[in-house]
Amino acid sequence: MCGIVGYVGPRSAATVVVEGLRRMEYRGYDSAGVAVVADGRISLRKKAGKLANLEAELAAEALPDSRQGLGHTRWATHGAPTDVNAHPHLSYNGRVALVHNGIIENHAALREELEADGVRFVSETDSEAAAHLLGRAVERNPSLLDAMREVCGRLQGAFTLVAFDLAQPGRIVAARRNSPLVVGVGQGEAFVASDVASFIGYTKEAIELGQDQVVEITADSVTALTFTGEPAVVRPYAIAWDLSAAEKGGYDWFMRKEIYEQPKAAADTLLGRIGPDGTLCLDEMRIDPAVLRLADKVIIVACGTAYHAGLIAKYAIEHWTRIPCEVEIASEFRYRDPIVTRTTIVVTISQSGETADTLMAIRHAREQQAPVVAICNTNGSSIPRESDAVLYTRAGPEIGVASTKGFTTQIIACYLLGLYLAQERGLKYGDEIRQIVAELSALPAQMEQVLAKLAEVGDLARELADAPSVLFIGRHVGYPVALEGALKLKEISYLHAEGFAAGELKHGPIALVEPGLPIFAVVPPQGRDQLHDKVISNIQEVRSRGARTIVLAEEGDVEAVPYADHVISLPVVSTLFQPLVAIIPLQFFACEIATLNGHDVDQPRNLAKSVTVE
Ligand code: F6R
Repeated sequence: MCGIVGYVGPRSAATVVVEGLRRMEYRGYDSAGVAVVADGRISLRKKAGKLANLEAELAAEALPDSRQGLGHTRWATHGAPTDVNAHPHLSYNGRVALVHNGIIENHAALREELEADGVRFVSETDSEAAAHLLGRAVERNPSLLDAMREVCGRLQGAFTLVAFDLAQPGRIVAARRNSPLVVGVGQGEAFVASDVASFIGYTKEAIELGQDQVVEITADSVTALTFTGEPAVVRPYAIAWDLSAAEKGGYDWFMRKEIYEQPKAAADTLLGRIGPDGTLCLDEMRIDPAVLRLADKVIIVACGTAYHAGLIAKYAIEHWTRIPCEVEIASEFRYRDPIVTRTTIVVTISQSGETADTLMAIRHAREQQAPVVAICNTNGSSIPRESDAVLYTRAGPEIGVASTKGFTTQIIACYLLGLYLAQERGLKYGDEIRQIVAELSALPAQMEQVLAKLAEVGDLARELADAPSVLFIGRHVGYPVALEGALKLKEISYLHAEGFAAGELKHGPIALVEPGLPIFAVVPPQGRDQLHDKVISNIQEVRSRGARTIVLAEEGDVEAVPYADHVISLPVVSTLFQPLVAIIPLQFFACEIATLNGHDVDQPRNLAKSVTVE
């Protein structure tokens, strides 16, 4: 949600900024803008809609050549997505250009105060108040950093701010509270941005800012302070991936590329975490093993697809550790006064590491003194920073809004955590762990087998492209797979789709079944007789009422075939691992349907990749 870029250096600032915004398009936005300083003036262009609109504006009326600029993609919260509400905003005295990500909760009071002082607002945004405040602060404070600190002291809520002052050329100042901000350090140039993707083409050296810090960049310096004025402790790091990871590499959509990257992402997530003797070594688990041994409950907190990964993990964690495991939607968690104690391990799952609902859930858990373990894909983001331990999924950048490799690697990381808990609590013998680890290690190759057969799913999508509604059913770990299959379809193809626990159908949803309704059914491996047979019965129930059944079953499952209008065969894996192969055709189906129906797969309407507001 919202992308921010600031640049100081020898290149054309407008070009660097617009390119940076392009690389952050995936975050979701509905207007965009850029401002530069040249010839003693601030020049600004901003436009509602996609970046292409801004680029057309720039083509019609180019910005002057400049060495310093900032830009923004806005996902509207306060005020409609119009040209006027787009960022950057200028201060009343014309000195400051500012962009903002987040929500300034006390904006109404600030607006009232500034208007009483004679300041005239031109937009409906909360952000404009910050521009005026900084405009006022730079008039009385010669230090841009101190002026920004003063402004931050006045703001409540979540914000990343990036700004410059016309009277202090060659400097950009930025601030962060509860919203992402990284600094890129190049040779004689520097960047600030919401995401390293925006400057990865220029430098791999990044600095992670902490909570409540301000930073000033010039072409050859970076100075960071806390909001209270002390030198800030920051973390320099090298970005582990390169520009090609943030590009489509011949695919039509990032989502499709990311579907195909899943075997590698899964293998990378396992890499180095399994010792030669088959035992697990999770070096990142900074939590005292005694805490893990004493734990009497696990609560997994996450949103959307990450929540579905958590639902799957619950089966494995309870099965391997016998510790009760609850899974909760992050936005619901803290409002129900959950029972969380020092012996509850709270596990948060987040691809972006910036999801505000999940972040707030962590804070609530930590207030109750519960140890928090983050499973996250984004190095240095807020969620791992605020957790006691982190297990990174190593999926690489996920740019398509619909999470794919994020999901499968989250399941793997959760399984590693569950096994680690079992290992530390002495609940599994070494050879049992080795056996499970061997199955995990075989998964990347099994995922490849599924990917090799996706053409059939493409044919199926062409047959079903006009279906107004699609249902997904499953049991046990197949149930969250059904939920995730439905979520993928609704978010990118805008079709009505629902996932149900197959056993629940007869308690209501079966009334939806009418002739021709496509229903995807995830059939458990044959080894689990009861479960397998029960799902087959559920398939018969819907088929006898006219549903068109698409059955995902393991190779050689002859019992499932007679009740299937279409069979998607899956490699033979244990029940707990089946979600990792079963979800792939469902992801691909959603991608195909959305493509066939002419939708923007990577940037579906109304959605943002990183949901940084509650
Ligand atoms: C769906 C999707 C979202 C995210 C959710 C949590 O495809 O991507 O449902 O899973 O917004 O995001 P993270 O994992 O970044 O916390």
